[in-house]
This record gives sequence, C-alpha cells and structure tokens, in this order.
Amino acid sequence: MKQEENMIYFVTGNGYKFNEILDLFSKEHVKYNLKQNNIKTIEIQAINIKEVASFKLNSIKGQIDGTYFVEDAGFFVDTPLNGFPGVYSSYIMKTIGNKGLLRLIDDFENTEAHFTSVIALYFKPHNKNYFFEGKIQGKISRTIRGSGGFGFDPVFLPNVMPSMTFAELTTEEKNSISHRGLAWIKFIRFLKENMN
Ligand code: IMP
Repeated sequence: MKQEENMIYFVTGNGYKFNEILDLFSKEHVKYNLKQNNIKTIEIQAINIKEVASFKLNSIKGQIDGTYFVEDAGFFVDTPLNGFPGVYSSYIMKTIGNKGLLRLIDDFENTEAHFTSVIALYFKPHNKNYFFEGKIQGKISRTIRGSGGFGFDPVFLPNVMPSMTFAELTTEEKNSISHRGLAWIKFIRFLKENMN
C-alpha cells in the first residue's frame, strides 16, 4: 500500500472518540494510518441518526482527498418518552442534563432506553459510502452514578450489566458492549476485508 492509500481521516472535534478508535486500530492491527480532521461539517436535525451521519458525510465532499468517516450517536428513552431525546441528545445534555432527564421520568416505574451509533464512511477505493451501526439496550437509573465516560453514561444501565451504569464501567468494559464499540468492530472488519 502506498503512503497516501493507507491514510484514513476521522472527521470529528471529539478527542475522546478519536482516542477510542486509535486504541482499537492498534489493538486490532489495522494497517491504516488514522488522522483526526477538524473541518467543519453540517449537522442537520433529522429524525434518525443515520440520516444525520449521511448528510454530515456528504457535507465534507471535495474537502478531503482520500478516505474519511464521521460518527454520530444518540440516546433514546423509548419508555416513557417515545424515543426522546434521540437526535436532540446533545442539545438536551447541554440544556437540562441528566438531572433534568431524571425529572422527566420521575413518575414512571418502568423505563426502556437505548443508544445508537452510526459510522458513515466514504471509501475512496470504491468511490462509495458505507454505514456501520451499533445499538445497546438498557434502562434508566433512578440516580446519577459513576464518574467515567461522558453524556448520559451516569444514568444508563445496560441490560447486559444491569447493576452498573455506563459511567461505573472502565473504558474497556464500556467499549466491549457499547453502541459505538459495536459499530467500531463492524467498521474495522470492513477495513480489514477491503485492505489491499
Ligand atoms: P454525538 O453524535 O456523539 O455528538 O452524540 C450526541 C449526544 O449523545 C452527546 O452529546 C451525548 O450527550 C450523547 N452520547 C453519545 N454517545 C454517548 C455515550 O457513549 N455515552 C453517553 N452519552 C452519549
């Protein structure tokens, strides 16, 4: 592989996510040279995460000569909030935060929630876009617990480890079950299968 052929750009301003995938590239022996790129992307308000990721990917067209990808995620409280905040997750986190979210569901006994992550890739060798999705199902904790992770992690109890919030898990434990972890694995499998 020539130097420029094995270069891949992750377009994100989120250093936490960049380090997560950098770590996985090295653990999984992915031979691509990963670089962070901070160029401005356009984020639309759509009804699903894949649409947001797809629009964001297309908004980069012509600005990077090579293979590049973006990642978008959302938190959905299916019961009792019918999927809210979903595509509004970052706005809700910035405005009412976890405390406000817990107040919204205070009167409800049963909760169901999930995270979704979509990686949207422009793969130059095929001149084509690809999408990789990951999802994790869980419940909402009655209290804010744990100091790890970010965003809604302190209120999310994954069904596979129902006694711990995401924020109480180590980064490795979270990545092994999380929406983004699952999407990363599919993405890495694709890269390995399509490496020259
Ligand atoms: P973004 O698309 O990654 O910016 O995610 C939108 C919002 O969803 C973020 O601002 C976070 O509040 C939330 N979010 C995304 N991924 C996670 C996660 O792994 N844990 C907790 N919150 C997350």
